[in-house]
Amino acid sequence: MAWQHAATVDELTEGFPLGVSVAGYDVCLLAWQGQIFAIDDVCSHAEATLSEGEQQGPILECPRHGGQFDIRTGKAVHYPAFAPVATYPTKIEAGAIYIDLV
Ligand code: FES
Repeated sequence: MAWQHAATVDELTEGFPLGVSVAGYDVCLLAWQGQIFAIDDVCSHAEATLSEGEQQGPILECPRHGGQFDIRTGKAVHYPAFAPVATYPTKIEAGAIYIDLV
């Protein structure tokens, strides 16, 4: 495990995706039902920024063409996105969010 600091818990609110840059990776942080999820911030369809999309529960909709992803698995669940996006393990320690990029 190579945990990297990504943000503080206070910066993340459910329903408001947060784009962060961690060790050269663009990552989208999301909160849902008390858990924190981290996925690639680049849409697998045409490289839009997913953190600018709209979150509805565990589903994140891409702002460009409306493709949707399940934030728990990274799986594409709605056209025109077909390929998944990467997901990363997360943990919280002392009010900080860490993600594992390895
Ligand atoms: S760029 Fe995301 S669905 Fe097209």
